[in-house]
Amino acid sequence: MLPRRACWRELTQPDAPPGSRRGVSWKVRQNEKEGVAVTAATKTPDARCMLITGASSGIGEGLALEFARRGYGLAIAARRLDRLEALAPRLLAAGASQVVTIALDVADTDAIQPAVQRAAAQLGRLDVVVANAGVGSLTPTGRGKLPLMRETININLTGAIATIEAALPIFRAQGCGHVVGVTSVAGSKGLPGFGAYSASKAGLHRYLQSLRAELRGTPVVVTELAPGFIDTDLNRDKGARPFLIDVDKGAAIMARMIERQVGKRWVPVLPWTIIAQLLKILPAAVLAPRQKRS
Ligand SMILES: NC(=O)c1ccc[n+]([C@@H]2O[C@H](COP(=O)([O-])OP(=O)(O)OC[C@H]3O[C@@H](n4cnc5c(N)ncnc54)[C@H](OP(=O)(O)O)[C@@H]3O)[C@@H](O)[C@H]2O)c1
Repeated sequence: MLPRRACWRELTQPDAPPGSRRGVSWKVRQNEKEGVAVTAATKTPDARCMLITGASSGIGEGLALEFARRGYGLAIAARRLDRLEALAPRLLAAGASQVVTIALDVADTDAIQPAVQRAAAQLGRLDVVVANAGVGSLTPTGRGKLPLMRETININLTGAIATIEAALPIFRAQGCGHVVGVTSVAGSKGLPGFGAYSASKAGLHRYLQSLRAELRGTPVVVTELAPGFIDTDLNRDKGARPFLIDVDKGAAIMARMIERQVGKRWVPVLPWTIIAQLLKILPAAVLAPRQKRS
């Protein structure tokens, strides 16, 4: 097995055409097959490759742009393929070595493994998987919100776990890989009105903790990033957003954390590391919008 740091560079390119050299770009033909469209034109043999779910907006889109600037090959997945197709040329212009767009609903767990496998095949390798897709629905308890609660758990928890489970055999086979899970400060405390969201993020946190323990000492690393409030569609209409940062700043911080393989971090580190500790003793209501009760 290759050591953790070395493996990014040392892995060979399984789909490199005969005669191609490291550092030399070559053309990838336009291809559209079973929901996977290769929209990029240029592939660089040395480039790291990353799959980001939930890349059609917000943090996922911001991360895609950050890693495009670093020259990564990117597979971007979400339900809104039109948004991914519009993003792809921006990623190439920013420096991505190639871009693959994938229409994927992570609530459809059967669709996840084929999508991850196709992403790896189209990119030629898979170094990092970012399980970022998520929804932040308001689900007050006892108000007939069970369908929305179930959807939240399916997308945020089961969908994220299924994405990571699909990537792990690829990482194991190639001898290295990096799992990134996006949880939330809301996972550290049950927030009023957001029971399903808090439960989904707490569940994902525990899964990532188990994964890290299981993979300890192997070249497959696990990073958990738990944002506070980043300005995206997810939380725009949902009341108070203390210590809000814009999405470019949030994505830049998260990209640096991913590259540094930080383990677990709150985003941004301050004030959320302190607040997460305070939340253990403070009422959760301080971070949640007031709920109307009839
Ligand atoms: N913004 C914050 O303050 C904050 C704080 C803590 C944690 N987070 C987490 O950060 C992640 C990204 O959220 P965001 O803030 O960037 O929100 P966002 O702008 O609403 O983005 C959510 C992304 O997830 C995708 N998505 C939602 N449901 C999906 C499904 N069933 N299948 C595939 N993709 C799906 C959406 O794409 P489609 O609709 O096109 O499918 C979109 O690309 C989420 O996991 C969220 O819980 C955000």
